[in-house]
Amino acid sequence: MDKLKIAIFGGSGYGGSELLRILLFHGHAEIVLVTANEHAGKLVGEVHKNLFGLTDLRFEKSPENLSGLEDIDFAFFALPHGQALSLIPRLPENVKVIDLSGDFRIDDKDIFKQFYKLEHTADELQKKFVYGLTETNRELIKSANYIANPGCFATAVLLALAPMVKSGLLNGKIIVDAKTGSSGSGAKAAANTHHPQRMNSFYAYKPFQHQHVPEIEQHLKEVGEFANDLIFMTHSLPVSRGIFASCYVETATVSTNEDLKNIYEDFYHDAPFVRLVEGSPDINWVKTTNFCDISFHASGRQIAIFSAIDNLVKGAAGQAVQNMNLMFGLDETYGLKLIGTNP
Ligand SMILES: NC(=O)c1ccc[n+]([C@@H]2O[C@H](COP(=O)([O-])OP(=O)(O)OC[C@H]3O[C@@H](n4cnc5c(N)ncnc54)[C@H](OP(=O)(O)O)[C@@H]3O)[C@@H](O)[C@H]2O)c1
Repeated sequence: MDKLKIAIFGGSGYGGSELLRILLFHGHAEIVLVTANEHAGKLVGEVHKNLFGLTDLRFEKSPENLSGLEDIDFAFFALPHGQALSLIPRLPENVKVIDLSGDFRIDDKDIFKQFYKLEHTADELQKKFVYGLTETNRELIKSANYIANPGCFATAVLLALAPMVKSGLLNGKIIVDAKTGSSGSGAKAAANTHHPQRMNSFYAYKPFQHQHVPEIEQHLKEVGEFANDLIFMTHSLPVSRGIFASCYVETATVSTNEDLKNIYEDFYHDAPFVRLVEGSPDINWVKTTNFCDISFHASGRQIAIFSAIDNLVKGAAGQAVQNMNLMFGLDETYGLKLIGTNP
């Protein structure tokens, strides 16, 4: 198979940095364009110092004429929300797209406006997008041309909850208490991500307003019968990478750990990046990898499910490449056997 010609829009941010780290060493990928805004003109290794000396690529401004990019096979978008919405419709139709932002994740444009404070201006194109949670949408992803890559919190929460929703055993309210590291807010320093502020701190944010609520609810309805109330709360952890989600649910009848083991093993029997672990997952063991570690515990009708991912890998660039692999008929793990570190 020839190498896929790839463009990365927004390569100088944290999502772009991880796309470059993975795709530069992916045997079927050749990066032919990588764009930046303020960093345009700089060498990739000058901005992402982990890549210093490993590539001669240089960041460019996004081309004005996107319709002239017919030679590209694949475009990744790792731009702030709202940018891909106006850029993707201008690409030639032969270019396959994976968008890491929230621009194409929500089917209902009123809900999109409510959570993103933006008008959705690409109705027709929206219909062509497939939600890119690989483990639940694998077959649709294989034949898709446009992927809306899931949000980082949404990935951790959906992978924890999907088997329970599919089982049909859920009864009552679902409470999700999720935490993220500071890299979730991107590469630009802000008051709430500045190290002195963040390193000894822990706080909740966006109660009931987080933009991942609608994509979690929308996709759970695609996975199974889902009409439960969902309370989803997000918190900031004093770490750089990682998401940890604690999900509390109830079942209609008493469940045991053995019942849960059967449900989760069955659901994830063919999912190389989901690991079912004892006790609690730990962001230490998933950071820099594409794994999602999950554990579950039953006590009568009450169930706790914990999941951990690296927000920039399984929560962004890693899952995007996992989807790209499937769209091109490759094994989904190709180029993604990234091993973490101990500690
Ligand atoms: N961080 C995460 O954990 C994570 C996880 C999943 C999804 N996402 C989503 O992925 C997208 C990228 O996130 P990120 O964390 O990588 O953000 P980031 O670190 O802030 O990077 C943003 C990128 O967009 C470029 N950019 C910023 N403003 C621009 C503009 N006005 N016009 C053109 N380019 C512009 C930046 O270029 P310069 O640096 O050169 O200005 C940079 O390359 C976001 O939509 C985010 O929600 C992020």
